[in-house]
Formats: sequence, C-alpha cells, structure tokens
Amino acid sequence: MSRILLKIPKVVLQQQKQQNVHLINTTNAANSKINSTAAMSSWFQHVEMGPPDAILGVTEAYKRDQNPNKINLGVGAYRDDNGKPFVLPSVRKAEERLINKKLDKEYAPIAGLADFTKHAIELALGNDSVNIKEKNNATVQAISGTGALRVGAAFLNKYWNGNREVYLPTPSWGNHTPIFQHAGLKVNKYTYYEPKTCGLNFKGMLDDINKMPEKSIVMLHACAHNPTGVDPTSEQWKELSKVMKSRKLYPFFDMAYQGFASGDVARDAAAVRIFENDGHNFVLSQSFAKNMGLYGERAGAFTVICSNKDETDRVMSQIKILIRPMYSNPPIHGARIVSEILGNDELKTIWLNDVKGMADRIIGVRQQLKDNLVKLGSTRPWDHITNQIGMFCFTGMNAQNVERLTKEFSIYLTKDGRISMAGVTSKNVEYLAKGMHEVTK
Ligand SMILES: Cc1ncc(COP(=O)(O)O)c(C=O)c1O
Repeated sequence: MSRILLKIPKVVLQQQKQQNVHLINTTNAANSKINSTAAMSSWFQHVEMGPPDAILGVTEAYKRDQNPNKINLGVGAYRDDNGKPFVLPSVRKAEERLINKKLDKEYAPIAGLADFTKHAIELALGNDSVNIKEKNNATVQAISGTGALRVGAAFLNKYWNGNREVYLPTPSWGNHTPIFQHAGLKVNKYTYYEPKTCGLNFKGMLDDINKMPEKSIVMLHACAHNPTGVDPTSEQWKELSKVMKSRKLYPFFDMAYQGFASGDVARDAAAVRIFENDGHNFVLSQSFAKNMGLYGERAGAFTVICSNKDETDRVMSQIKILIRPMYSNPPIHGARIVSEILGNDELKTIWLNDVKGMADRIIGVRQQLKDNLVKLGSTRPWDHITNQIGMFCFTGMNAQNVERLTKEFSIYLTKDGRISMAGVTSKNVEYLAKGMHEVTK
C-alpha cells in the first residue's frame, strides 16, 4: 500500500490536499451554520429566568459577608451551640449497627420498608391507636416530608370525593402552595396568625373554618407551625376537632417537627391524637428531617386513615400506583436508620434524649433572647419569642427592620421577620438582641 502511495505523482497529492482543505472548510461552514441555526431557534428560548429561592438567597448573601459577627438566621436546620450542623448520637449508633449488619442495597418495595412505616405511624399515633390495631392506616414511606405531602396531594387530587380545594393557614410553609398546585389541587387560605399579638387569631380561624364549603381539605400544622411558631393550645385543638367534624371538613396534618417542638414526642403529637380520638379519618405527612437530623436522607411517611381494613388495602394499592411512575421506590438508608432507632429500646431512649436536647436548646435561647432584649431596655413586648415554639420565631419585625439588621449588623433573615432559632447560640444571642433592639427602637 505504502509503495503504491509513494508512486502517486506529486501533482495528484497536491490536488488531494487541496480537496481535503476544501472538505474541512465545508464541514466547518456546515457546523457553524448548524450552530447558528441552533442559537437562532433554541428549543428553550422561551424559558425565563426564575426567581432565586427566598431562603437560599439569604444564605448566599450571608456567605459573601466578611463581618466576623455575621449570623445566618435563614436556614431551617438545627445547629449546635457552636453554630455547627449536628448529627444525633442515636443516629451515629444506628449507622454503626447498620454497617455491622452488612445489608444489601436492593430496591425497597414501592411503599418503602415495612418496618419503617410501622414504626413511623406508631410514633405519630401512639401504641394504643385504634386505627393501627384495626389496620386502618395505609402508610407508605415517602421522600421526607415534602415527598409525603406531594404523594398525599396526588392521592387527594385523584380520589378525594369532596371539594378539591386545600385550605392553608395564613401564612403557611412556603412550599405548601406549589406542592398542592403542582398536583392539580386548588389552594385557598384561612386566617391563622395575628400580627398585632404575634400569636394565634383563633376566632378568625374558627370563623373561616365555619365558612368553608363542606368536605374541603384543611391543612393543619400538627406542631411547631412554620413559619410563625404559633400553635393552638390543647383546648383549641379540641374545639377545632369538633367544629371540623360537624362541618364535615377533611384534616390534612403536616407533622414535620414531632419531638422537636416541646422535646416530648407524645406532646407534639397531641393534636393528631385528639382528632383520632374524635373519630376523624385524616391524612398525615411525617418527616424525620428535623427530629432525627436526617435532612439529606429524605426519610418521611404518608398515611391515609381509612374506615376499615378493606378500604386500607384498596387505598394502599392506588397510592403505590401513583408512586411507581414518580420515583419507583424510596431511598433505603434513612429509613433503615429510623427503623433501627425506633425498633430498639436502647437506641430509642438515646434518641428521645437527643431530641429533647435539641428542643431544650431552642427553648433556652428563646428565653435568652427575650431576657437580653429586656436587659437592653427594649420597651416592645417580646413575650411571643418564648410563647412561640419550634424551629422558627416570627419576631414581628417588618421589612425595614430586617433590612437594617442585615445592613448594619450582618444578621441575615427572611424579609417577613422570621428567624430560625437554630441559628441563635449562647455566643451570638447578645449581639442579636442588640441588633434587634437598635432597629426596633
Ligand atoms: C411545615 C413543614 N412541612 C414539611 C416540611 C418538609 O421538610 P422535609 O421535606 O425536609 O422533610 C418542612 C420543612 O421545613 C416544614 O417546615
């Protein structure tokens, strides 16, 4: 071959070279034509830039700030008294035990790990629950609380036989509206927070509940209402349960903070249990992000309380049909940790202590913040800081107060004046109180 090639006259080689150059040039021209056509008629030219997430935006601005005293009160995840993320000792122990078990990594069933769902619903309703005894709970593992809400929304959108409108408290967790709308349900509001008292407008809430069309879906934060930290009292829950029953309204409980609010898992589940005792059939979403610190593991559960075992089986079959095309089956590691903890008396005792420790630290810094504001001579009422409960405190500061707090003190929070108490520590609480006092004088 090479000999034949060598015999090709110089002239011919020259011609071939020129042709190749021509070929390369035409290919380049064609490519650039394709590229420019693509640029002209891009498939997604119509896609507009969306707004950044309100809370992530706060964190980004905080990261850019060089002030050594800066504080991030936007983030909704627990921090220890040094401001560091916290892995619960019970979770560490559960993980060690799991490693020693050398488990495989096969798929979970569509409804998740059976052990996990059993423990999750027992934690919510208690071991004496009539519905658990009678197998009236259709419980599936979900992708944390958000996933549980989304599966619930999809189920109700398809099967709810009443008014397909979800009533949310004003305000509610920012993700509630898009979750329900995404599933196709109409979203409505009811009165909840009273800005004048930084507390609950119970009368307004009851008035609105009394006006809702029968068989509407009513979203209730089971404990540690996000973003306000304002919960109804036990007596108020009892009244709500009676009114909702007589008005034939359907409760959707979102329980994202069981144990994290008061430090006592039974106390934080009291609202759900009151409704159960009053004979409501309801839906429930649960999250283990906060109470076990399993934020990134995405361990949650969704339950429909049914009227009998036969209904439970049918409902369960349909929830599985809804889940399958969404994500096939849920992740296993977080659910295994939860099962390991709740299924072992020794680990469960450690966990109950862990969760109480987190709740107590939050309750403690609430008191310190209020005390410091009083000590600095603030004449504004700050009792709501200690009356509110859970991760968040709705301080009552307005958007201008917040702007000044950020500009002058490098303290970062959302414009609505919500602070994550998890970002407050014994070391920064004085500085925070000083800032809050200065901007609210
Ligand atoms: C009220 C409420 N529901 C649900 C969730 C869901 O959280 P996750 O999906 O992380 O479990 C949160 C988290 O902030 C929340 O505050």
